[in-house]
Amino acid sequence: MTHATYQDVSSEGEQPLPPTVAVLLAAGKSTRMRSRLPKSLHPLCGLPVTAHVVRACREAGVERVIVVVGHEAERVRSGLIEAIPDGHLLEFAHQERPLGTGDAVRAAQSLLASWPHTVLVLAGDTPLLRPQTLRQLVETRVRTHVPAVMLTMELQNPTGYGRILRDEKGRVIGVVEERDATPEQRRCCECNSSIYAFDGSRLWEALAQLRPNNAQGEYYLTDVIGWFVQQGAPVETVALEDPKEALGINTRVELAQVAALLRARLLEDLMLSGVTVVDPMSTWIDVDVTVGQDSVIHPNTLLLRGTQVGEECVLGPFARIEGCRLGNRVQVYASWLLDSVLEDDVRVGPYAQVRPNSHLGAGVRIGNFVELKNATLGPRVQASHLSYLGDVEIGEGTNIGAGTITCNYDGYQKHRTRIGSRAFIGSHSTLVAPVEVGEGAFVAAGSVITANVPADALAIARSYQTVKEGWAADYRQRKANKGEQKNASK
Ligand code: UD1
Ligand code: CA
Repeated sequence: MTHATYQDVSSEGEQPLPPTVAVLLAAGKSTRMRSRLPKSLHPLCGLPVTAHVVRACREAGVERVIVVVGHEAERVRSGLIEAIPDGHLLEFAHQERPLGTGDAVRAAQSLLASWPHTVLVLAGDTPLLRPQTLRQLVETRVRTHVPAVMLTMELQNPTGYGRILRDEKGRVIGVVEERDATPEQRRCCECNSSIYAFDGSRLWEALAQLRPNNAQGEYYLTDVIGWFVQQGAPVETVALEDPKEALGINTRVELAQVAALLRARLLEDLMLSGVTVVDPMSTWIDVDVTVGQDSVIHPNTLLLRGTQVGEECVLGPFARIEGCRLGNRVQVYASWLLDSVLEDDVRVGPYAQVRPNSHLGAGVRIGNFVELKNATLGPRVQASHLSYLGDVEIGEGTNIGAGTITCNYDGYQKHRTRIGSRAFIGSHSTLVAPVEVGEGAFVAAGSVITANVPADALAIARSYQTVKEGWAADYRQRKANKGEQKNASK
């Protein structure tokens, strides 16, 4: 099995991360998203935006993650706890009013005042960050003993970002925000990513010195950098090789851009691990989806939320598979599958729908316009055309004829249908639940089954056919004669 996660394989076997706590800033109002849903909770490849940052911290080996919430605090809190495995381990700090990034970090002080090790500070809206970048920041801080290490990046268009100020020897002397910068400072392309590793024993004193003397009247976290330098304590920088890693999401345009980059990363991991992705541009994979070797994913296919796919499967074109587990050599064409299990060698589609809690045994065949819901199908069951099979158990090897319908709902309650092994349900049969068809039984085509059918019996539940020899010829003759009379009377 190969994993479509952004966890870097090389991090395995590395030294444990020195003791580190992360503080994620997510208290801002995110006005530019123009959304009732807080930015932190917008979905991105199967997880809320801020959950990706939490993951990166955890994968880097961070011990505690504290999220600073403010705007829509309760919603962000419960949304993250729900979306993240072990979400109850997250800690939350509350920023009363959005007074700036420096003030936001201060909100976490009471949770961290006695923490003497590294404090990572990150924005909650940079989901492309890689765990190894965070490790590099922390390790640099521990090695150099400086009060702060800043993650920086060279941008061709630095508009909107804080710029790094250096003296003639190239030593960092501070950060200036775009709005407060001189025209000359603005020409600098070395930017602040808003991701830092601080010395926890020196951070709070620096934050206490902040004053809102700037264009926005805010407490800027960036000002602690200049303050440390003035105190005679140099700070370090780590430059991002790939500046895209620190891309933030401020608008829905950026959300789509970041999603495209994350998706490309996940697909690349899959391809390198032995999965054929015929058209990466039209293929969507959530984080945590796994696909086995030599499986082939055809265009316009979505593998979502925890789906696990075995080896040598063929998926798509046009398949949407969410929360499902697929064995080996499974084939799914142009179909919609949700929260179900497909054992080895199952074939589904085109144009089938598998609704939640269905279990398809090995070798099952589900054809066009067949809908399953809460259906347990034994090995090699076939339902090849035009059926609704809901709340049903079907034994192995049974054949379900075209147009078979389980009537599982009486307008008030759902009822189950049980069909034994090696049975044969004739085309266009209606099974009115609750009802059972025994092992090896036959149901004649077009039957409406309202009572149980014993094993090995034949049930016929339709009116018998009457044949009137010559009737049609007589009928045509009568009509023809009538026509002649009419013409004659004209
Ligand atoms: C910040 C940096 C800037 C850097 C840029 C990178 C400051 C003063 N500036 O600017 O140098 O180049 O990020 O993207 O730090 N937040 C709170 N509470 C607040 C204010 C902000 O929690 O009171 C959170 C926001 O939700 C967001 C993060 O902090 O997740 C960054 O805030 P934002 O206002 O976007 O900072 P920028 O202006 O982008
Ligand atoms: Ca920002």
